[in-house]
Amino acid sequence: MDYRHELSRLIDIDGVSREEIEKLITVPKESDNGDFCLPCFRFAGLLKKSPVVIAKELAETITASDTADFLSNVEPKNGYLNFYLDKSDFNRRILEKVLSEGDAYGASDEGRGRTVCIDYSSINIAKPFHIGHLMTTVIGAALYRLYKFLGYNAVGINHLGDWGTQFGKLIVAYKKWGDEKDLENRGIRALLDIYVKFHKCAETDDSLNDEARRWFKRIEDGDPEAVALFDKFKEVTMKEVDRTYKRLKVSFDSYAGESFYNDKMQPVIDELQEKGLLCDSDGAKVVDLSAYNMPPCLILKADGATLYATRDLAAAFYRKKTYDFYKCLYVVAYQQNLHFKQWFKVVELMGYDWYKDLEHVAFGMVSMEDGAMSTREGKVVFLEDVLNRTVEKARAVLDEKSQTLENKDEVAEVIGVGAVVFSALYNSRIKDVVFSYDRVLSFEGETGPYVQYTHARCTSVLSRAEITENVDYSALDNPDAVAVVKAIAAFPDALSDAVRKYEPCYVARSVMAVCQAYNKFYFEHRIIDAPEEKRNAMLILTKAARQVIKTGLSLLGITAPDKM
Ligand code: ARG
Repeated sequence: MDYRHELSRLIDIDGVSREEIEKLITVPKESDNGDFCLPCFRFAGLLKKSPVVIAKELAETITASDTADFLSNVEPKNGYLNFYLDKSDFNRRILEKVLSEGDAYGASDEGRGRTVCIDYSSINIAKPFHIGHLMTTVIGAALYRLYKFLGYNAVGINHLGDWGTQFGKLIVAYKKWGDEKDLENRGIRALLDIYVKFHKCAETDDSLNDEARRWFKRIEDGDPEAVALFDKFKEVTMKEVDRTYKRLKVSFDSYAGESFYNDKMQPVIDELQEKGLLCDSDGAKVVDLSAYNMPPCLILKADGATLYATRDLAAAFYRKKTYDFYKCLYVVAYQQNLHFKQWFKVVELMGYDWYKDLEHVAFGMVSMEDGAMSTREGKVVFLEDVLNRTVEKARAVLDEKSQTLENKDEVAEVIGVGAVVFSALYNSRIKDVVFSYDRVLSFEGETGPYVQYTHARCTSVLSRAEITENVDYSALDNPDAVAVVKAIAAFPDALSDAVRKYEPCYVARSVMAVCQAYNKFYFEHRIIDAPEEKRNAMLILTKAARQVIKTGLSLLGITAPDKM
């Protein structure tokens, strides 16, 4: 049952449509003010009455009719019309819905026929996959799953950083100091070492830079030796990164990276030229954006080389043509705000209305508690190391607290990785976060392990008794149970909100609300020793709570263990 819709049908106001009323109905902040409310302020002008009087009259009409058996009360208050649901009816409806829909509870087809491209993770070849990539990877992947769950056609794109003069440098470094065995064993770390060494040596020996430029040119010209080396670096990187993607349950539909657009930029440059948007700036070609208070967007360097923005422009046109997207999202750190603003503006100036569908989904910075993150000094915190260490710590906790658990390694992996992912998705994405092993792994507080533990608790309750036929829902006529059902009922809205605002934290918070409410219920009420019919109602509540926790976690990319 769609309560907003049903409530809107109880209200007749001349000159205001049902749809408008439905949109105005919200959930009050304070539960004292009902389960839903309709603010009447908007109608004051139209009806030439005060909102207080309007609310009072509407309440009287509804109370006089007997159409609303799902309501226990309707009350006007301070210009709001507050609706109180009949709790038994509400509990039964919601819980039956969750149980009958199962894994599909919360899913919808609101996105049918719409394609959303999501550019996320977008790592750089031969560079470390570090803690700074955590957010783009898990936020992007969560949005990808959420869009699919809501019926959209989602396209996950890893816009690989696989182009640029640094690959020339890497070839020079590898030919001078590289070691095949070391590369095999240490992968990206071996590449990072020789890359840092190159920069050190190039400080005093500029000829290295010339050599690097020549090698880069050879890659561009398709020289077999240069291309083979470059492919090797790419292979080493992807092999390592895929390992982490697997653990994070992250996947992509396309790995079309920067080099993919080598032959797709010229038409864009020509079009910019034709439309009179390119200006000369010391030999370079730029789009002047001074009218919009932005520095110019660089399209071509004086030597004819293309830039990051040129490739992003070409990629956007390619994506529009290939996928005809409804939206194209870029899950990239807020440090790149200006870059996206600039080239989005260029698309607008070229006259394409779909610039409005390009969305920079920005997020904050992750730093380590001990301050151990500085790419420039080569002090890089590899994401894989963070996951390994969290898993190790989770394993130590299990050794201490869950001695009889069978598959400890498996569960430790799920808890450790889940803890990192949950912490990355629990806050509004724009916030900077300081990563702390102890905090993300705590079993109390708003953490991944707490949510997983609640899931295991529900499973354990359900393993102790069967749900049988007769159910007495009056067992749930208490504020603790109603709070759980309300949290469960709010889950589908949280999913749409998450997608609308590109904020997976709405999902994480919704799951947390279910866990907190359920745990309170669990500690205050005896389930297993209750009379059968009442016990059934409480088991159904438990099952529905477990379903929402499981679905929510899986949308976030986190596994829910049955035992821990
Ligand atoms: N590889 C880039 C970086 O690490 C991120 C790319 C983001 N996506 C894009 N289409 N610009 O900074």
